Amino acid sequence: ILLAFPPTQVDHLATVEAVVTKGKRKKTTLVRLDVKPTELPDAPNGTKYFTIYLANPINSGESTTLEVLYLFTHFLEPFPAEIGQSESQLVYYRDSALILSPYHIKQQTTFIKTPSTKVESFTRVVPTSRAGTEMKYGPYEDHPPYSSSPILVHFENNSPFPVVEELVREVEISHWGNLQVTEQYTLVHGGARHKGVFSRVEYQSRPTLSGTSSLRYLLARLPPRVHSVYRDEIGNISSSHLRMDSRKSELEIEPRYPLFGGWKATFVIGYGLPLQDFLFESSDDRRYLNFTFGCPLLETVVDKLTVKVVLPEGSKDPLAVIPFPVEQHLETKYSYLDVVGRTVVVMEKKNLVPSHNSHFQVHYTFKPIFMLAEPLMLVSAFFLFFVACVAYLHIDLSIRK
Ligand SMILES: *[C@@H]1O[C@H](CO)[C@@H](O)[C@H](O)[C@H]1NC(C)=O
Ligand SMILES: *[C@@H]1O[C@H](CO)[C@@H](O)[C@H](O)[C@H]1NC(C)=O
Repeated sequence: ILLAFPPTQVDHLATVEAVVTKGKRKKTTLVRLDVKPTELPDAPNGTKYFTIYLANPINSGESTTLEVLYLFTHFLEPFPAEIGQSESQLVYYRDSALILSPYHIKQQTTFIKTPSTKVESFTRVVPTSRAGTEMKYGPYEDHPPYSSSPILVHFENNSPFPVVEELVREVEISHWGNLQVTEQYTLVHGGARHKGVFSRVEYQSRPTLSGTSSLRYLLARLPPRVHSVYRDEIGNISSSHLRMDSRKSELEIEPRYPLFGGWKATFVIGYGLPLQDFLFESSDDRRYLNFTFGCPLLETVVDKLTVKVVLPEGSKDPLAVIPFPVEQHLETKYSYLDVVGRTVVVMEKKNLVPSHNSHFQVHYTFKPIFMLAEPLMLVSAFFLFFVACVAYLHIDLSIRK
């Protein structure tokens, strides 16, 4: 089954997922289907396609129900593009009342949900109705392939738009029992740009009216049993709180100043994790790290993510296994006492949404004897030093006798 997207939407498309419901009534299960981008030679107006591969073919007269989820990023356009500290943020949403499709559609209804009941304006395509936070377009009967009917909805959206322009996560494996994670964030508020000067007095005295769309704090979901959490010392984060239970840890981060539209913050957080929760041995005598890809900050869009897995010195044949396409290469990193350097597996992905937060694995071979290399180096260095001292004290270097 083909899904079609106009070229204006494809650039914003972060993910497409499809599931089919199996079973009847209450005993339904969802089965995930493969979805792949597809090129068609005679695509009208630069239409882009994705193919959903059904688990079982549909025979003539049969039917099936699919659920498709796709996410766009940077899709809402703030209008006005600049707002003052106490103004509401309004945005435009553009779409088509009729879905773009290469198929004849017998009946279609489109619902649009807005975050609040404040809707400035919306295009009407009869029949169109609105109740509360929901707008209903349709039902439209019998429309031919590639029908389209553009709509524009202008509504209030006071959510801050947290966008991580760049995140570099470094995960360092130490066979002495620790997994050290360091994360470097460049965060921007992607909503309507802030206009005029910022008044902290007004901001703090009227929190419900002033800066309603500002970004006050961030929440990072970290794995359970996290320890030695730190943040940058320069003070780009003014406070942070850590809450832990047996299943997860949550780190609340408050930037030094609230972020308004267009404002940026850069900061670093780091933490340690017990290695046995993430490093396993596979059957073929290899080891593998099983860790989450994606950004620990909740509800953020990540424009560019780099994940670096630093393997212990002496590791061989690294292989990354990840459920979606990423760019990959290897680097070498030197840290204290390294002789040949550590292999670093680097993975990069653009345009990430929280549904990309799945697990990935990095497999590698490691000979335990390498673990002794650094202690032995230290032992021999100290040994030589003391031998030198002993020798120095026993040798008589004086010229006079
Ligand atoms: C703190 O913020 C400043 C200004 O945005 C930036 O230059 C600096 O690199 C940041 N410090 C860290 C450790 O990220
Ligand atoms: C990785 O960890 C997740 C969560 O603990 C688990 O569901 C998944 O099966 C693990 N994958 C592998 C290959 O071990």
